[in-house]
Order: sequence, then C-alpha cells, then structure tokens
Amino acid sequence: MIDSKIDILKIRKDFPILNREVNGKPLVYFDNAATSQTPQQVIDVIVDYYENYNANIHRGVHSLSQEATDAYENAREKIRNHFNIAHAHEVIFTSGTTHGINLVANGFTGLLKKGDEILVSAMEHHSNIVPWQMLCERTGAVLRIIPMNREGELIMEVFHDMLSEKVKLVFCNHISNALGTINPIKEIIDAAHKVGAAVLVDGAQAAPHIKADLQDLDVDFYTVSAHKMCGPTGIGMLYGKSEWLKTLPPYQGGGEMIAEVTFEKTTYADLPHKFEAGTPNVCGGIAFGAALDYMNAIGFEQIAAYENELLQYATSELMKIEGLVIYGTAKEKTSVISFNIKGIHPYDIGTILDKLGIAVRTGHHCAQPIMDFYQIPGTVRASLSFYNTHEEIDKLVAAVEKARNMLL
Ligand code: ALA
Repeated sequence: MIDSKIDILKIRKDFPILNREVNGKPLVYFDNAATSQTPQQVIDVIVDYYENYNANIHRGVHSLSQEATDAYENAREKIRNHFNIAHAHEVIFTSGTTHGINLVANGFTGLLKKGDEILVSAMEHHSNIVPWQMLCERTGAVLRIIPMNREGELIMEVFHDMLSEKVKLVFCNHISNALGTINPIKEIIDAAHKVGAAVLVDGAQAAPHIKADLQDLDVDFYTVSAHKMCGPTGIGMLYGKSEWLKTLPPYQGGGEMIAEVTFEKTTYADLPHKFEAGTPNVCGGIAFGAALDYMNAIGFEQIAAYENELLQYATSELMKIEGLVIYGTAKEKTSVISFNIKGIHPYDIGTILDKLGIAVRTGHHCAQPIMDFYQIPGTVRASLSFYNTHEEIDKLVAAVEKARNMLL
C-alpha cells in the first residue's frame, strides 16, 4: 500500500496561481485535464532561461548557444529516463500531442494501401481520430472503431476479433480525457503486434498520473503534452521506436533537419533532428524537463495514491446529489469525473460554478463520438490533480447542489 500522505500544504505553496481569486472567491481549479497549473520551480526555470542564456541551439559556437543546447539536450535525457526509453534519439520534441499524432499519421501515408485497416478506440479525443480519417482519405485505408460499453470500457473481445493481417495500425489513448478510463494498453499492444500492426498510444492524459515504462509496454509510438503535467504549453514529446522513426519520412522541411542541401537534392539529418525542423521551443523543452523533476520529487506513486483517494471521495460525494449521473464508471479509472444533472444543460452548471470561483470544463471535451454514444450534448467535467484538496471537493459538491437548486 502506497502512502498517499503527500504534503499538500507545502505543494500548494508551490503554485502561485492557487492564491488568486475568481469572481471574488478563492480559485478552485478542477480543469486539470485541459491544462495543469505551473509550480514556481518551473516558472523560475523559464525566467532563468530568458534572463540568462536565451539563444538558438545546435547552431552557435558561442557560449550562450552551447549552454542552451546543453540544457535542451539534458531535458531530452530527463524525458528518456522518466519514460524508460532506450535511446535519447527516440525522443522527438513536438509542440504537443496533436503535433506528435499528425507527424505519425503523415509519415504512414506512403506505407498504407487501399483496404488496409486502422483501428481506433471509441473513446478517443478528436486529435486521435481526425488525423487517421485524413490518412484514410489519402490512402484508401479503412478506419474501424473498437467499441466500448456503458461503463466506458473497451470491449476487448470485440477488439481481439477485429484483429487480422489487414490491420496495420492501432490507436488508443492510455487514459480517456472525457471519462477517465485507464485502457488496457499492454493487452492492446501485445495483441496488435501478433498481427504485425503498429500501435500509437496517446499518453496526454496518462502522463500526469502514471509513470509509463515505454520499453516494458513495447509500444511503437507514445505522445505526451508538457502543459498537462506542470510544464508550459507548446511543448511535448513523441516517442517512436528507432526502426519506425528511421522508416517514416520527415514531417516538415527546414533548418536543422538536414544533413546536406543542394538545389538538386537534400539528405536528412539523423534522429531526432530529422523530425525537429526549424528553431525549436528551447525554453519549453528545458521547462518540460524541470516539470518532470518537480513531479518526480513528489513521486508518481504518491501522486497516484492521493489522486485516487480524491477521486473516490469526489465520486461518492457527488453521487449523493439527486439526479446526478456520472459518465465513465470503469473499474480502472483516474482523476476525471464527467457528470450531468438530469434536466440541466452542462453549460449552465459550468457558468454557475465559475461565478463561485470553481473552474471545470463543460461541453463535448473534443470527444464528440463519446457524447453521441451516451446521446448527450456534453458533460460537466471535474478533473483532479495532486494539488487539489478534499475541502475543494466539498466546495464543488456544495456549488453543484446550489446550481441544481437554482436551475431546476
Ligand atoms: N484535451 C484537453 C481536454 O481534455 C484540451 O480538455
């Protein structure tokens, strides 16, 4: 049993934004699945970069450029280490998960043919649906959907039946942004590999809660966004196995991704630079590394245990509200509670919560097929982080009660 007693008071002091008020009330931030807040330790790293060694990287012999290059490559190494990736060149810096998925989808254009099949889970974010639809349009491949049940769990027997030699790619999120389901990705990866299919796992919602071991998972591609795990926006990573990254063509042309350029022909740089055209988000990469340092200093096992305690508490307290329905009741879930109250539109609840200083996301959460499945326009989504408290959950529950009483 992991000790979930993290030092919540100390942790909250690290996040300056948690001291502010919204609409005259102390901020209660439950929109962590959209973006997490940034601790002072990471803000300091960003300020230090711009105050002391802002420079372009991999290009200059001057000292600032070398310092910035070293810090950026050191961050790549931290990411490699955190996700237990075999080689630093398998870590591609991206602008975020959407960029990483599009890079892979674009790369497979020349590798698929008409009639090939791509499997995607029924609980994907639009960023893990639309790029594959576009890939199907370009190649004539067929997109097939792995179904889910009412609890928000993938129906694995059907998935296994769908697998055949025609399946070339399988896509699934590690954790659903709209339901909080933790998907059985190890089983998915192992089964897909048996028929020769490659697997991309969207880890955007998992990385803030679970320390994934990518070598153990044996996944082909894994994507992450730093801004969901205490880092800044505009930076993320795509992991790809070396053999895949060598096979896929570059996504963008430009500086830094070439070996040699003439007007007749260009040869490409080695990994990872082949996929990192142009001046990268240097500060973002360094801050991503600092965010991992920050979270690892608390400890992912402690974070997971504490967040699970918060989830159980929030679920049982919210369930006491008459007419409240929770979507996503998978046995394996984390940190997300999507709900509605019968007879009330989610936007109306979200608006009242905001007036009370409580930030939640309302709507379809960029996952319209899930809303269609439940035949609802959207949900209210409270997404938890390790810096939230039981008292904040009490405030949320009281505010939802109040909204219910006002709106019904
Ligand atoms: N994907 C983010 C969310 O779930 C934006 O809110």
